[in-house]
Amino acid sequence: DKAGHKHFMAKEIAEQPQVISEAIGHYFGAGQSEIRFPSDQVDFTGVSRMVLVACGTAFYACLTAKYWIEKLAGIPVEVDVASEFRYREPPVGPGTLALFVSQSGETADTLAALRYCKGKADRIVSVVNVTESSIARESDVALPILAGTEIGVASTKAFSCQLLVLFVTAMEAARQRGLLSADRQADLVSAMRGLPARINLALDAEPVIEAVAQELAEARDVLFLGRGQMYPLALEGALKLKEISYIHAEAYASGELKHGPIALIDQNVPVVVLAPRDALFEKSISNMQEVMARAGKVLLVSDRAGLGVAGEGLWRSIEMPGVEDLLAPILYAIPAQLLAYHTAVAKGTDVDQPRNLAKSVTVE
Ligand code: F6R
Repeated sequence: DKAGHKHFMAKEIAEQPQVISEAIGHYFGAGQSEIRFPSDQVDFTGVSRMVLVACGTAFYACLTAKYWIEKLAGIPVEVDVASEFRYREPPVGPGTLALFVSQSGETADTLAALRYCKGKADRIVSVVNVTESSIARESDVALPILAGTEIGVASTKAFSCQLLVLFVTAMEAARQRGLLSADRQADLVSAMRGLPARINLALDAEPVIEAVAQELAEARDVLFLGRGQMYPLALEGALKLKEISYIHAEAYASGELKHGPIALIDQNVPVVVLAPRDALFEKSISNMQEVMARAGKVLLVSDRAGLGVAGEGLWRSIEMPGVEDLLAPILYAIPAQLLAYHTAVAKGTDVDQPRNLAKSVTVE
């Protein structure tokens, strides 16, 4: 049942204020900033390293979590795609907490990577949507993302809920290690509680995004740029676009532009820049100007403050509401998803069942 939407993907994008709010309700009591986390089963104090392993969109959620965990909890984090991790025979020993992220909980490579870590890592934690799945069953602790059934092959609401639960995990790790003051914790929880309303505002940008998508649909190649925690989101935006619209899209960390990809820039390559006005904003803007100086067409996704100082010469812009810096990847996932969705609709591709793809990849 698409609840009046043209596609399951559209329905699932629109459900995000609701499912994010349910996940927040699960991990925090009403009106409280205390984290509801199985702390007795997951000890972050003796951990010297974390490995985060997943595939596809879930892998990009892990890449985002690396920024959060390292920043808030000071634990070194390694992130790998499951198909590489499992065959590389990486050293995993005492002091390692292994964490696996999977919507379906059945992805063959992720499950194999989990089994590889059994008996080697201190603890095996999973972040799953399907709680009766193999990955959930075989881990010591399974943290539910509570996104509800996701039918569209392109993951949307599961991604934002994965991010939310990974952020809660980073907060809990920081708290256990004495690195999160009660005040900071209360501030972050209150910012999280403000997310559903902000996601609604982001969804209000849909008509603007739909108009941009009509033009994006003409492109042969699209670049996505982001810095810091927005870099993994650029990767996710590019994946979303290529998997459902079949337009070639690539993502780079903004600072990498001049090390090669800038050679691709001309008036035919739209460049999507994901840059809220945070501590790295000035750097992103200077990278963006390098693109514009080469006639590149820049679509800037930022907040009012960012768009206000970004200057002249943008091809298009999409305005997001302001949000706590650390939570921006969750909010900016919405325009990335809508952009891919409307571009695919404009091209007339099969949005919910893109060619060659399956929802659950149970063979390697
Ligand atoms: C992309 C997408 C895939 C999955 C990947 C992992 O939109 O859906 O990249 O994220 O196949 O699947 P799960 O999370 O079920 O392990």
